[in-house]
Amino acid sequence: MPHDILLLPGDGIGHEVMLEAEAIIAFLNETGLADVRTERDLAGGTAYDAIGAPMSDATMAKALRCGTVLFGAVGGDQWDHVPYALRPEVAFMRLRKEMDLFANLRPAICPPALAGASSLKAELVEGLDVMIVRELTGGVYFGEPKEIVTLENGRRRAVDTQCYDEDEIERIARVAFDLAGKRQGRLASVEKSNVMKSGLLWRQTVTRMGREDYAGVDLRHLLADNCAMQLVRMPKQFDVILADNLFGDMLSDVAAMAAGSLGMLPSASLGVRDAAGRLPALYEPVHGSAPDIAGKGIANPIAMIGSLAMLLRHSLEREDLAAALERAVSQVLDQGLRTGDIAPQGHVGVVGTRVMGSAILDAFRGACERL
Ligand code: IPM
Ligand code: MG
Repeated sequence: MPHDILLLPGDGIGHEVMLEAEAIIAFLNETGLADVRTERDLAGGTAYDAIGAPMSDATMAKALRCGTVLFGAVGGDQWDHVPYALRPEVAFMRLRKEMDLFANLRPAICPPALAGASSLKAELVEGLDVMIVRELTGGVYFGEPKEIVTLENGRRRAVDTQCYDEDEIERIARVAFDLAGKRQGRLASVEKSNVMKSGLLWRQTVTRMGREDYAGVDLRHLLADNCAMQLVRMPKQFDVILADNLFGDMLSDVAAMAAGSLGMLPSASLGVRDAAGRLPALYEPVHGSAPDIAGKGIANPIAMIGSLAMLLRHSLEREDLAAALERAVSQVLDQGLRTGDIAPQGHVGVVGTRVMGSAILDAFRGACERL
């Protein structure tokens, strides 16, 4: 039975980078290394222009039915004027919520070949390998009330609600502890328990789980502001970082820059496996739609290809293919190929999306022959 994947390129560079992922999927199908059936659909501003909404109910139903989504990026200035409830980002907020994708994995890896591309000193980031585990369906992103109300004096007040149940904290913490156990065994849990009740419950819950169920994991707690500072001071001190929705959003951008470029970072958002063993999942590059460079063919496809590797690992359970694809990316970087975002100043022969994507596919082809 083929594995169904819904492709949602979205807006801006989402289209260009998705083409490179599709070329790799086509290769996997042609060679029989995998059996994948894809369907493309609209999301984000492109969908708004076509149907007046960032995603149709039919597309949402398709995502729920096939369970695996490969996403590009959404947004752009041209949709700044659209009503708040219809803005392009609503597409993936909806996918996250309705597919219950509570666990967002954002690896920030800096291969030695790219140490010079980071804005931090090369020796601080060379070999960096941090996994950020971000809670994705709760906290201030979704908490109610969420509104702007007019007060009696005619002035307005905006309210967002940060709230977390113990169950929500436990399920994301379990993902982080389990991952830490498979990696270097170190977990840093992040909150603001000094000023937030939700942070206090977070710390108490994670502490109890560490004591009762994960004695083998070296657990420490950091306040979110301190974690941001530590990430730029000495990023390699971290193995797995566990954070709520908002702090995880911010810290993953910080970690991305430590790793060199947002154009490098993939992500996986995983839900709860159903009785039949199906895992709802969405894979997307951490970068946005980059309207400033969209359509120019210069976007870095590596975050998108890395997201496809995560899909092969978690949804197809093909660790061999996932690792081979990641090796292909490293090999191409070792050969010196660079898109503009990761090229050192004065680098000669910067390549575009297509050349980078094809070089990775060639390297992957070679790696697959050796599987
Ligand atoms: C991310 C993005 C989104 C988020 C935005 C675009 C809504 O920044 O996936 O990190 O805040 O979750
Ligand atoms: Mg973000």
